[in-house]
Amino acid sequence: MTEIETRRLLVGLAGSLFTRGYSVGSAGNISVRMPDGYLITPTNSCLGRLDPTRLSKLDVDFRHVSGDPPSKEVFMHRAFYTSRKDVGGVVHLHSTMATAVTCLPDLDPINPIPPLTPYFVMRVGRRLPIVPYYRPGNPQMEEAIHNAARNARAVLLANHGPVVCGKTLTDAVYAAEELEEAAKLFITLRGVEARLLSPAQVDDLVATFG
Ligand code: 13P
Repeated sequence: MTEIETRRLLVGLAGSLFTRGYSVGSAGNISVRMPDGYLITPTNSCLGRLDPTRLSKLDVDFRHVSGDPPSKEVFMHRAFYTSRKDVGGVVHLHSTMATAVTCLPDLDPINPIPPLTPYFVMRVGRRLPIVPYYRPGNPQMEEAIHNAARNARAVLLANHGPVVCGKTLTDAVYAAEELEEAAKLFITLRGVEARLLSPAQVDDLVATFG
């Protein structure tokens, strides 16, 4: 894929997320790995109104080289790219239901959302660690995310929202969408004795789909 095609892909996926209510205002940021660095959404930009020519370009050391000033949360994306070898894209949203989960007390800190559906397990995996609350943009978050991402494809930032990675940008977006759906089911079924996938069913999904 050429760079302009990747820029257009990012803008298209971001616009789709915005149009369907996964982000509001200027919330959220998205990045994609390139052969010579990264593209990331500019700070304070609306995911629904991005200009492919003005995306922030970072070099391989995450230094801003062109485009508008990058998201103040570059470190959040860097935490995933440096923690895991297989990351091609990272999506951070304040999507409503996943963020609602981040505000609940007394959750399992490694697996707050139980395995209700196969696609949640297939896209997000068995672990979804909760990272303690930090002010948005606080770079101290990086180490906590980096450590959590070693064994997880997504994390929940307490009282803030999800951060999700994928082998490609499209995979990361799909995983963020599945996480939001799983959070919606989890909140809907709270207080109900829902039937979960069994440990054997989860093992089978992980063995089959990774
Ligand atoms: P940026 O506009 O700097 O990317 O920050 C948005 C955000 O989602 C903060 O958590």
